[in-house]
Formats: sequence, C-alpha cells, structure tokens
Amino acid sequence: MTLEVTNEASSTRPDLSNRDFALDIQDFKVYYDTPRGIVKAVDGVSLAIRQGERFALVGESGSGKSTLAMAVMRLTRPPGRIAGGNVLLHGTDLVSISEEEMRQTRLADIALVPQGAMNSLNPVMKISNQVIDGIIDHIPEDAPKPDADELENRVNELLVRVGLAPMVGQLYPHELSGGMKQRVAMAIAISLSPRVIIADEPTSALDVIVQRQIMQTLGQLQEGLDAAVLLVGHDMGLVAQFADTVGVMYAGKLVEIAPVETIFSNPLHAYPQLLIESIPTMDERKPLTGIPGLQPSLLNLPEGDVFAPRSPIPHTPEDAATVPKLVEVEPGHWVQLSRSSVADFNTYAHLVDY
Ligand SMILES: Nc1ncnc2c1ncn2[C@@H]1O[C@H](COP(=O)(O)OP(=O)(O)OP(=O)(O)O)[C@@H](O)[C@H]1O
Ligand SMILES: [Mg+2]
Repeated sequence: MTLEVTNEASSTRPDLSNRDFALDIQDFKVYYDTPRGIVKAVDGVSLAIRQGERFALVGESGSGKSTLAMAVMRLTRPPGRIAGGNVLLHGTDLVSISEEEMRQTRLADIALVPQGAMNSLNPVMKISNQVIDGIIDHIPEDAPKPDADELENRVNELLVRVGLAPMVGQLYPHELSGGMKQRVAMAIAISLSPRVIIADEPTSALDVIVQRQIMQTLGQLQEGLDAAVLLVGHDMGLVAQFADTVGVMYAGKLVEIAPVETIFSNPLHAYPQLLIESIPTMDERKPLTGIPGLQPSLLNLPEGDVFAPRSPIPHTPEDAATVPKLVEVEPGHWVQLSRSSVADFNTYAHLVDY
C-alpha cells in the first residue's frame, strides 16, 4: 500500500485545521468579569483529542474544568465570556460560527452531559418527552421532522443503549435513582449520534458501584460512536480506568498532558505528582492527605508559575516569577516546564529559553 501525500500548501488561505483531531482547543481563554476584577477561569488552555480518543481532564474544584466544558459548547453566560483562542471541531472554529450554526452543532456533532445533569431534568415531564425535546430542538430547520412512531422508537433505542429499560420513558425524574437519571442525561446527549462527547463529572454524587457502571456505559457509547470523549473529573483513580490521555488542570491552566500510563508512572510536574500520591491504595495504609496549601484566587493571579506557592520543590523567587511554557518533552507528553514545579527541570532545560 502506498501512502499518498497531498500538498495543500498552495492554498492561499492558511489552513488552521488539523484534520487528525476531532476537537482541537487552542490557547483558549474564558474569563468572568466580576465587581472584584477579572476571574481568569480558563487561561490559555490548549489540548487536542483524536477521533476515538478518551481524554480526561482532572484538577481540583475551581480549577476551571466546567468553565472550559461550557465554553467549548458556547454555553457560557455573563459575567463569563470567551476571551480568546479557538475551538476547532473537525476543523470548524466553534468560537466564530453563528449562534444558529452552533445550535445545530450541539448534540448533532458535539454534545455535553453537563455537571449535575441528573438534577436538571424537568421534574414535571416524562423522561421520553425530555429525550424527544432534545432531538427536535437540534434538528436542522430544513431537515424532515421525524413522526411520532419514529421518535418513540428512537427514544426506546436510546434508553436501551444507556442501559435502561424502554418503560423508563414513561416515568418522571423523581421515580428514578441518581444513576438512572445520569443515564437519561447521557441518552439525551447521544441522541443525535455526536462524534464528540463532553461529560462533566458524570459520576459525582453516585455510589462507587454505580460510578463504575456509568463509566462502563460511557465507554460503550464512546466505542459505539467511535466518539472523541472529553471526560471531566477530579478523581484520578476513576478516570485512570477510562482514559487514554489525561490532562491535569491547575488554576485555569493545563500543567501536564500525557498518556494515562505515563501520567501515573512518570508525572513530571509537582501538582500531578501530588495528586497521584494522594490516591489511597489498598495495600498501603497511610493517612489520607490532601495537597498542602490552597488553590490561589483566580482574581489577579500572579505572573509566572501559579503552582509555585504550593510546590515542594525548592526554588527562588525568580524561578517562581518566570512564566512557564507548555512543552512536549516526549511524543504526547506535555509539561508546563518551570524550575519551581518540575524537579527534573534540568533534564528538559534545553527545550526552553529560561
Ligand atoms: N458565574 C461566575 N462568576 C464568577 N466566577 C465564576 C463563575 N462561575 C465560575 N466562576 C469561577 O471560575 C472558577 C472555575 O470554576 P469551574 O466551575 O469552572 O471549576 P471546576 O474545575 O469545574 O470545579 P468543580 O470541580 O468544583 O466542578 C472558580 O474560581 C469559580 O469561582
Ligand atoms: Mg465543575
């Protein structure tokens, strides 16, 4: 077999898209304008996910994960705003398309299971009607509308795909367990077979067994659709079994991205190192530790390495004040390289000019 290489460089317009990636987030910024100042909740995040890849985004509460997820879907509400960057979905920049195009793109091409989705089902509406509403809302204006039978079949098929019996469609949310409600939220999200799915903490507030089952279902849905998945979570242990790639977020910035085995075997940044050390294990009895110190206020963050105040690595004020760069230290392994937060800095110092 020969590989044909086409040269598109002759095009007059620069081709910003990378067709390899299902979702390519570039230098994305999402800020909240508050009376006390600008909260830089997402501050220059870049990450890319291939079709069929499972990418988990982890980080402490308040690190900007949901802000990122909502903004990718263009669901940010004031005082939040997208302050810069691009979000390429199969090459189309979601930041710049019209509101109407975005409405049709949601669910059809990229779907979100929002944080707390199971609590936002309409309490006075049967499950089947909520799924149908989701489908109808996002059908393009010029496309034929499905009839009632088609819709009913579609709802039943979706419920079965997320592991629920079709009769659940006839129930109201209060008749469902938390896990069942989360499955309904997933059914709504996949109703138009999107190629990219964002799931924001789909298992929070569920017990451990149900968490596992929900993750399994999400995995089956991902495989069935060959979807790219951005899973948001804060539990490293839980995402470890699901993800191909892990991105670790701290105070609005990604500090490390790596294949899942690498992030556990060879994390380079002090923050993921501490996150992993704090995972309790069965064979090692140790007190549960958190990470010392507090996440900084996202208001007026200091320039430089935002993790420095909590980093256990000895460093000078100059090290902490140096703005770190996200560098690819080996294929697929990216790290915010700073002297204050990367113990092995000297090994990679040749990759940066500070
Ligand atoms: N409407 C808002 N106005 C001002 N600041 C906000 C608003 N919504 C979120 N923030 C701030 O943005 C930051 C990121 O919040 P976000 O909800 O994205 O975090 P998260 O990583 O999803 O946290 P969690 O794990 O708790 O879900 C927080 O500091 C939060 O206080
Ligand atoms: Mg969140």
